[in-house]
Amino acid sequence: MKNAMPEAGGFFQRERNWHPPAFAPGYKSTVVRSPRRALISFPQTLSEITGPVFGHQMLGELDNDLTLNHARPGESAIGPRIIVYGKVLDENARPVPGVLVEFWQANAGGRYRHKKDGYLAPLDPNFGGCGRTITDAEGNYFFRTIQPGAYPWPNGINDWRPAHIHFSLFGHGFVQRLITQMYFEGDPMIWQCPIVNTIPDKRAVETLIATLDMQAAVPMDARAYKFDIVLRGRRATLFENKLEGN
Ligand SMILES: [Fe+2]
Repeated sequence: MKNAMPEAGGFFQRERNWHPPAFAPGYKSTVVRSPRRALISFPQTLSEITGPVFGHQMLGELDNDLTLNHARPGESAIGPRIIVYGKVLDENARPVPGVLVEFWQANAGGRYRHKKDGYLAPLDPNFGGCGRTITDAEGNYFFRTIQPGAYPWPNGINDWRPAHIHFSLFGHGFVQRLITQMYFEGDPMIWQCPIVNTIPDKRAVETLIATLDMQAAVPMDARAYKFDIVLRGRRATLFENKLEGN
């Protein structure tokens, strides 16, 4: 599949008052990995405004079903079964088709299948913890999974990550690559989290919280969470009388 809209022109810069600062001492590892000097601004070139093109032929049949994609035949992952779905939009609220959406998460007990994760919660033999999909022509994506558990991490003496799913999205240009995390509506642990608390504006945090959507649930099977995602938009789209690409 080709990208539906040709890409041209530069992208909006990141909104520095909306995104968390690189240096946020409450989240300990930012102290050593944040830049020590002022950032230098470069004009955008082809290497930013172009990007890879993904097609459905690269996906396996179970890539968007984490309950099954690592499970033995006839079995499935343990945990509350959920569907996560939403739309990928750009900053001008246009749907972005052809976006590779990848996701990874801990299992229902809060443990990752990773050799560096030594948390005492058990691994689930039927759960791998990662998957992927591609947005359709209207920018929609969805996947099935189990609700991940919260887990403790070495930051302060008693810090826990709220239940979350990590996302990577590859839009039409390299500057549209977005790495983010999704949280679950109603989880009190969100507001305790030192990583969440690096985000200065509560409204920005709320954009990371998926809402429970019982209309999209599958009865006797899975509840649904809705999570829309906004990628950086292009500057050349601000004409109200001319939609770019038309
Ligand atoms: Fe995580």
